[in-house]
Amino acid sequence: HQCFFLSFIWLTLLFVNAEVLHMECHDHYFLIAVDLSFTGNELHFEAVDETGVYPITTQYVAECGYSVRVLPSPDRVELRASYFGCHTDNKDDVVFTFNFNLVATHEGQEVTYALSKTCSPSLPWSPREVTCERNYMEVSIGGLQIAYEAYEMSYSSATSDWQVMIHRNGEQLMPMSLSEARMQGYVFDLTKGRLVFRTSYGQPDSFSTEVNGVPVEVIHATLFSRQSWVVLMVDLVAACPMNEGSYDNNGYMMWEIPEVLHPLVSGVHELQINLGANGELVEQPVAEERGYIVEKHDNMVQISIPYNAEGGTRKSFVSDGLFEYYMFDLYLEKLSVDEDHLETRLRCHRTLATPLLPRPLFTEDRTVLEEHTFTVYLGDVPDDVELMAVHLKGQEFPVPFTNDSSLTIAEVFHVNNTHGYTLKVPFDDPLVTRQFSKEDAMMQYKVDINYTLTVLPENEPFYHLETVMVLVDVSPPDFDAVCSESGISFRLDYRPYDYLWEITIGSDPLTPELAAQHGYIMSNNSQSLLLEVPLFTQGYEYKDITLKGFFGTFQILVRDHETSTVQSSTVMTCPFTTNEFVMCSTDGRMTVVADLSLAIPNGGVRARTNLIDKYCGPKETDNTRALFSFPLKSCGSTLGNEYVTYENEIFFSTKLGALKNPADSIERVTMQCTYRLAGLHRLFSEHRFESDTEGFGRIVHSTHATGGR
Ligand SMILES: *[C@@H]1O[C@H](CO)[C@@H](O)[C@H](O)[C@H]1NC(C)=O
Ligand SMILES: *[C@@H]1O[C@H](CO)[C@@H](O)[C@H](O)[C@H]1NC(C)=O
Ligand SMILES: *[C@@H]1O[C@H](CO)[C@@H](O)[C@H](O)[C@H]1NC(C)=O
Ligand SMILES: *[C@@H]1O[C@H](CO)[C@@H](O)[C@H](O)[C@H]1NC(C)=O
Repeated sequence: HQCFFLSFIWLTLLFVNAEVLHMECHDHYFLIAVDLSFTGNELHFEAVDETGVYPITTQYVAECGYSVRVLPSPDRVELRASYFGCHTDNKDDVVFTFNFNLVATHEGQEVTYALSKTCSPSLPWSPREVTCERNYMEVSIGGLQIAYEAYEMSYSSATSDWQVMIHRNGEQLMPMSLSEARMQGYVFDLTKGRLVFRTSYGQPDSFSTEVNGVPVEVIHATLFSRQSWVVLMVDLVAACPMNEGSYDNNGYMMWEIPEVLHPLVSGVHELQINLGANGELVEQPVAEERGYIVEKHDNMVQISIPYNAEGGTRKSFVSDGLFEYYMFDLYLEKLSVDEDHLETRLRCHRTLATPLLPRPLFTEDRTVLEEHTFTVYLGDVPDDVELMAVHLKGQEFPVPFTNDSSLTIAEVFHVNNTHGYTLKVPFDDPLVTRQFSKEDAMMQYKVDINYTLTVLPENEPFYHLETVMVLVDVSPPDFDAVCSESGISFRLDYRPYDYLWEITIGSDPLTPELAAQHGYIMSNNSQSLLLEVPLFTQGYEYKDITLKGFFGTFQILVRDHETSTVQSSTVMTCPFTTNEFVMCSTDGRMTVVADLSLAIPNGGVRARTNLIDKYCGPKETDNTRALFSFPLKSCGSTLGNEYVTYENEIFFSTKLGALKNPADSIERVTMQCTYRLAGLHRLFSEHRFESDTEGFGRIVHSTHATGGR
């Protein structure tokens, strides 16, 4: 039941989908074509007439006027059946009906479809028609008084009275009856108005000759009948060129035939030559437009067809790379007349083919640097070739790609029956090889692509390799910096190649540990780096220190990872106004701005201000504050022991006049600079103070204490 159902569907398909089954009427034959992609390869035909069913499968089919073949691209089976075929119903040489079975095998079961096609040729038959099919020669004559008489006579007498005599190269063989001839593969038929003779090529009694170097096969039969005192004789000759076509390596498939194949076949006056494809002639202007060329010289007719002419087929082929070949089913018609103005129409079918021609694909690097992505176009892919996978760094990516990979592929189709693929691979993908060239300060990105393509429908794979490479100008990163009241903020938005450099503060690489140790606030992820550097943390440089304010400068260095040479730096200087602070410089200087009003209750007026050494006075004072800046070891500073703490004090009186004894002073402010002992290089040198780091500063008010750093 299922089988019946499937067959029913299939049959319906055949008729509904005109793509599957074609039945066409041509000028001397039926064309039945079946698309194998729908039916499978197990397919054959049977001719049907009132006498029985005749499989069109064996050599016998040639002498009966059938020609079957399988064609590629798309895969199909084609049956050409002569209108004068053995099992065709012929009504007055005008209406021909071909009844046939299409036998297909579905899952081991044969299914037979009875089909029928009726055709009437659009042209009247010429007095003589010679057809050179792929597998047989056919000649029919008619339009002659003699044929008519023959017909009449055959009516009044038994056909068995007819005898046939074959001529082999001038030699006459023994006459035989038509049925004897039939057993030897010579088919004669007497229709209403025509005499038909057909045989396959290579019969023992045919003869081969050469005309202008072209092999020609000739079959010559004389049909005769004796009716009392009348003897009727008809000469039936078919001559067909047997040469293959050739390829001229300049894009033309060529075929040539002699103008006169045999004196008894071709008339002496040639009228015209028409060309066509696939058994269908085209008008002269169409032939010209398609580039078909007919040239005559030295009694030869030379035909040139562009390899890719319309009407041909092409097929891809893998053989250590991609190749292709073209096939063209040439159909040629040659009209000529003899002295008696009787027309002969010669029809030849010849399949021309190119050799295997290389079919290069092309790859184009369409990368736009700014997109930071490789864009590679693979083009000129023929329509019977498909991209199956892409291999990058030994990893296989079947097409279409899953969307979890960063690669993308897009297919584009062109009107010229080619298509192409655009592959995109981001520069930063691990599949891309990166290499930094120091000399050029360029980053090289490279990707090796191995495309796997296959030719359909055989699924024969081949590979296409391409390497694309770019050099990207890489500059060291540059931070954005912003001043704030309490420090400086630096920001870096990472570029993909910023990992190439090392970021340092002075000579120390910036790490989370360093930041913690120095009191920087750092946040870092794959997108950006943010560094906030509070004022008075390590790394600042100060200048123009006055009571009104000062400038603080902080610098971030970008170094080469290997050589540590500085490639760039970001320096930011910001103005700061801080009420009170102590700076303990690495070169042994204490700079302090102290708010003295904190030590003077009720806003008394200061008269005089100095350090322990009363001769060390402030650099600047105003109503409330004083600025001192002095070498640590001077102005009476005292030295601690565990850490090295230099301490000094600001004394000031609230009355006019110099103080006799600073210790008696009511008002004092104490400042300290504390250095790590280990970081000090010349503690006892008289000439120079040098510390690795700045000291830690403190201001102690006698009444209030405020810490500074
Ligand atoms: C990935 O593919 C799935 C299934 O094809 C689809 O549903 C989903 O939207 C795709 N995701 C993206 C980001 O394209
Ligand atoms: C087909 O057309 C495309 C797009 O116009 C073109 O790039 C390509 O070269 C053509 N290929 C052939 C084989 O003509
Ligand atoms: C390309 O990929 C195919 C399939 O993996 C492999 O057989 C072939 O060797 C590759 N070609 C090259 C040059 O890597
Ligand atoms: C920031 O984070 C990235 C990883 O996201 C890391 O490679 C880099 O070293 C970090 N930079 C700093 C300065 O910590």
